[in-house]
Amino acid sequence: MNMKKGLCLAAALLVSATGVFAQQAKIKIDIDRTVGEIDPNLWGNFAEHLGRCIYGGIYEPGSPLADGDGFRTDVMKAVQDLGVTLVRYPGGNFVSNYHWLDGVGPERVPRMDYAWHRLETNMFGTNEFVKWNRKAGTEPYMAVNMGTGTIEEAQWWVEYCNADGGSYYSELRKKHGYPEPYNIIYWSLGNEMDGPWQMGHLNAEDYVKKAREASKLMRLVSPDIKLIAAGSSNYAGDADPYHWNRTILEGLASEIDYISLHMYVGNEQDNYYNFVSTPIVMDTRTQIVRGMLNELKNKNRNQRPIYIAWDEYNVWYRARSGADAVGERALEEHYNLEDALVIAGFLNVFVRNADVVKMANMAQLVNVIAPIFTSEEGIFLQTIYYPLQLFSNEMKGTSLDVMVDCDTYDTDRFSNGDNEETSHLLGVPYLDVSAAVNGDQVTIMVVNRNKDQAISTDLICQEGTFAGNFEVYEVNGPDIKSENDFGVTNVETLRKDDIRAKGEKINYSFAPHSVTMIRGQIKR
Ligand code: AHR
Repeated sequence: MNMKKGLCLAAALLVSATGVFAQQAKIKIDIDRTVGEIDPNLWGNFAEHLGRCIYGGIYEPGSPLADGDGFRTDVMKAVQDLGVTLVRYPGGNFVSNYHWLDGVGPERVPRMDYAWHRLETNMFGTNEFVKWNRKAGTEPYMAVNMGTGTIEEAQWWVEYCNADGGSYYSELRKKHGYPEPYNIIYWSLGNEMDGPWQMGHLNAEDYVKKAREASKLMRLVSPDIKLIAAGSSNYAGDADPYHWNRTILEGLASEIDYISLHMYVGNEQDNYYNFVSTPIVMDTRTQIVRGMLNELKNKNRNQRPIYIAWDEYNVWYRARSGADAVGERALEEHYNLEDALVIAGFLNVFVRNADVVKMANMAQLVNVIAPIFTSEEGIFLQTIYYPLQLFSNEMKGTSLDVMVDCDTYDTDRFSNGDNEETSHLLGVPYLDVSAAVNGDQVTIMVVNRNKDQAISTDLICQEGTFAGNFEVYEVNGPDIKSENDFGVTNVETLRKDDIRAKGEKINYSFAPHSVTMIRGQIKR
């Protein structure tokens, strides 16, 4: 890893009291330089029939920790505290061979799930999921089966969920004990249909044909639903994600409201700086799809607005193959502090692109590559829980275009322009920042990726002045490899001393390997 001076003019190196070189950085906040409204759907999550996400996660009938519906109350509380807004369901790869009728009514049909090689009892299905959402205060987001499923089956599901009555499937819902329609708004047209691993995988042209007809049938039942097309998830080998995205955007432009993108990253080589820089790839992919959306708008005068839904994102590399990737305990990744820094970087990407990214779903909610982890006796909160909680509860209002001026570093993966996805890069800034204004409150999120050094930073108010007490919260832990476990909390959010602010400048020293939120008032 190569440290060098950034683009900035003023990022001087200072000699600290200990004689160690310390960086001096600058963040300029201008409340007039707005990007877009931060959509609460950025704080979404995902519950797939996979491992112990549903069974033993959110649903465990018979457990002393479950309520009368079999929902784990400790998990429910952790979900509410996490500030989750909407939950995608039932998959994932699982959905591409899922038949929703197996999971409703008194007779449930057990099936082998060939995505994750486990027996699916179907005891938890549509009605249990919607009921769980109503209790949790979250919005359900359904994915239909575009693999082995038919477009008619997708239409029937919308009818079952959203039609008042009279039709066969709405009456079936009533017969099952749910008289009121659910009015589910968000529906995705399949999952990762660009991946050869997907059951019923299609090429882009065939996906467009099937998704367009499915969309037509679904909207005939429920015209106000919002549809999400399965964008790129496959960047391996000779996959062409750009062709995929452009083809489906052009082919489905008149149908869809979102294009979904998926991204998982890992630290397989145990290279800290490579790893914590990976949100740059997400940023780049966002800009590429933003360009495609702009192209579409430019070509079609009456183009309906289409946004980006990052509806699967996370760190995932440990429990990704062999026995760890199948069966009852699949994908039980155990997270550390560096993973939490990457998650904060992803969340910063969403906020910085709030005009075009209008939905995001951490994959997944419980046990399966998840912020919440259960045993039969209780739960613990993984490291990645804390940055998401900070953003979902605190990042509200309008996103700002922030100027950051700090030292940068090169890594073997992210250096000056040698990676085709990041060819615009001139080194990676140590500080990764987003900010929002809400009324007269400004909220600034700063990830300090420097593993060893605090970064002394001037926060400069470009319009108006900082006034009064600024609250400071920090997600951190003793070491980048620190983990949490049952009864052990090494990484969490701590409140730090308030900053008493007056005037145009605050100086703050961001701790090594930390995520910091600073919040206070700006007076015009
Ligand atoms: O979230 C785990 C899996 O990752 C999902 O089932 C799939 O969509 C993705 O490949």
